[in-house]
Amino acid sequence: MKDKIEAIVEIETEGEIGLIRLAKPPVNALGVALRTAVYEAYNTLSNDPGIRAIVLYDEGRFFSAGADINDFGKADIEPTLPQVLKSLNNSKKPVIAALHGVAFGGALEMALACHLRVGATGLRVGLPEVKLGLLPGAGGAQRLPRLTGLARAIDIICSGRDVPAKEALATGILDRLFDAPVRDAGISAARDALTGTLEPKRTDALVVSEDPGAAKAARIGLQAKRPALRAPLKALEAVCSATLPIEQGLAKERALFMELMAGEERAGLVHAFFAERATGRIPERDAESRTIKKVAVIGGGTMGVGIATTLLIEAQAARIETARNGVVANLGGALSRGKLSDEGHAAALGRLECTDVLEKVAEADLVIEAIFEDITAKTMLFNKLDVVCKSGAILATNTSYLDVNEIAAATNRPEDVIGLHFFSPAHVMRLVEIVVAKKTAPECVATAFALVCKLGKVPVRAVVCDGFIGNRILTQYRRAADYLLLDGASFTEIDAALEEFGFAMGPFSVSDLAGLDIAKATRDRKTAARPSDERYSNVADLICDAGCFGRKAGQGYYLYETGKKVAPNPGAERIVEAERRKLGLTPRTFDRDEIVARCLTAMIAEAVRVQQDGIALHPVDIDAVELFGYGFPRHRGGPMHQADLIGPTKLIRQIESYATEDPQFWQVPALLRDMQCEGRSFADLND
Ligand code: CAA
Repeated sequence: MKDKIEAIVEIETEGEIGLIRLAKPPVNALGVALRTAVYEAYNTLSNDPGIRAIVLYDEGRFFSAGADINDFGKADIEPTLPQVLKSLNNSKKPVIAALHGVAFGGALEMALACHLRVGATGLRVGLPEVKLGLLPGAGGAQRLPRLTGLARAIDIICSGRDVPAKEALATGILDRLFDAPVRDAGISAARDALTGTLEPKRTDALVVSEDPGAAKAARIGLQAKRPALRAPLKALEAVCSATLPIEQGLAKERALFMELMAGEERAGLVHAFFAERATGRIPERDAESRTIKKVAVIGGGTMGVGIATTLLIEAQAARIETARNGVVANLGGALSRGKLSDEGHAAALGRLECTDVLEKVAEADLVIEAIFEDITAKTMLFNKLDVVCKSGAILATNTSYLDVNEIAAATNRPEDVIGLHFFSPAHVMRLVEIVVAKKTAPECVATAFALVCKLGKVPVRAVVCDGFIGNRILTQYRRAADYLLLDGASFTEIDAALEEFGFAMGPFSVSDLAGLDIAKATRDRKTAARPSDERYSNVADLICDAGCFGRKAGQGYYLYETGKKVAPNPGAERIVEAERRKLGLTPRTFDRDEIVARCLTAMIAEAVRVQQDGIALHPVDIDAVELFGYGFPRHRGGPMHQADLIGPTKLIRQIESYATEDPQFWQVPALLRDMQCEGRSFADLND
């Protein structure tokens, strides 16, 4: 017998066993529709005297991605997930969850409320709520420790990590692994439950022992590792409540969950979750991709080595071996971090070819130029590539600032030329700006997007301007930091304030890492075009001229020993003081909030101009650039998300007050005034 409830859940009976199949694409998210359907299906089977056991399962790609993240922050609609799960746990008939693919968040919580859990060998389970600024709020923090013990549950819940099937079995989350089709495995487990071969358990009836040592160690670890985040510590509090009687523990867990649900951390992290997936909405989406089998990278410097996995071309023969070693080291790193399998590592090494013969690019379907940042060198190279490369090959430049239209004009096939701006270290950073020039063909754009997604990276469409999306914003953020430094804040104070806001590194530590000489070369290139009324800070140039190139030189803003920051560089501090004296500036004090407000406002103002100028398609694309390429704190959501939180009125007031000191730098973007007049948010522009 088969019956469908709202077509998103299918009920079926197999003798004395009732089956509930979840069938709500794309990910079986447990929004109100699916919750209601499961609840009704369960009640139907529970009230059926012919049914003695109930199986929950799915035959799609995976069991379920958990709660519907789109519902977060909206009013709860009954039946809530805790209500549905309570009925499952209280069922007189054994309820079995047969899991495959993934069961995350609310989906694992649903399985934990069942009386038995069986899992396919490739299954991954997890309670990733902390990654969304939440904690498991449907009983997961109470029921998981009842199966695994407190210490393991703390680890799983506070990290939000995936748990593979084998570990889930070993730790008591699963009762059995299977290789059979999931429906058969569910039926077989239900039969075994009825015969007593498997022993069904009501999770809520189990008890958890206290483990003060584990809780204390976790608290110290979380405070040290993630001081800016609230959710992991609240999650710890929720798990520790599992030692209370179940009803008290559930109530405590739900209260902590609701507190986090209302917070900015949750809103920022959910925004980041969707930003990662939103950047593919491009006009070229329906164009047919070209086939890319062989990729050549030209340039064996840091960038080229980071990008390269197949054919690497380095013009200077003497540098080939160093470049090869660099790629081999990166692949080795990926292997040891578990990002590459043994076979994948061996295959990548087997594919790798390093040469100084440019003509080899003739074999490539995609050529990525990653030579030094010089327009003459790049146009000359593209002129040669035009001659050597096969017809239909995509010619990409990894430039971070230069005019891709000019580079494309050096060829007779500008439709095949595109910018693919990777971020250093390119084998780690997830962002790739895809710079679409005036004549770039739609298939070329679609191919670039598909390839970048295949690499597991986040592609963001940009059009040509100096610095595209990310570096344009970075330039203004850096200027705000440099002005603060001249006006009286120390670089250590500025770094500390922004690190407290959530950046992994403040702007001066980042400069040291990236190399002061690299940034100086970019500034030198732009000197002629700099407006005469622009305030210019000489400090970075002077520090660089003193040989302090940053971490690689052992000194920059800070001093380094064997690559580790040890102290602020007194030499750099003296240069700052001398420059202030020379300019007749009396240093002022800035508190942390003001440092953050100025840097963030400068960043937001430029981000708004990037949107206003049509460089980015949507505000959420700008946020994705900052989150995945520039270390913007994920829980802050990105500059456009912050702009919505602060609101246009306050931002305009702030910019206007700073403008009394420097009207050239602090200007209100027209789009921000429009948003204020129309009462709209940047989120509205994402639709
Ligand atoms: N709710 C709503 N939409 C979701 C979703 C969810 N839980 N999980 C994924 N989606 C959406 C994605 O946004 C995407 O939508 P678009 O196609 O419109 O962009 C679509 O489903 C497919 O997702 P992916 O592109 O990520 O697909 P994938 O196959 O690469 O990965 C996945 C699938 C492993 C399930 C991954 O999507 C994932 O990890 N999802 C999040 C899981 C999660 O964090 N769950 C916990 C939620 S919190 C909770 O459940 C507890 C609670 O009660 C509050």
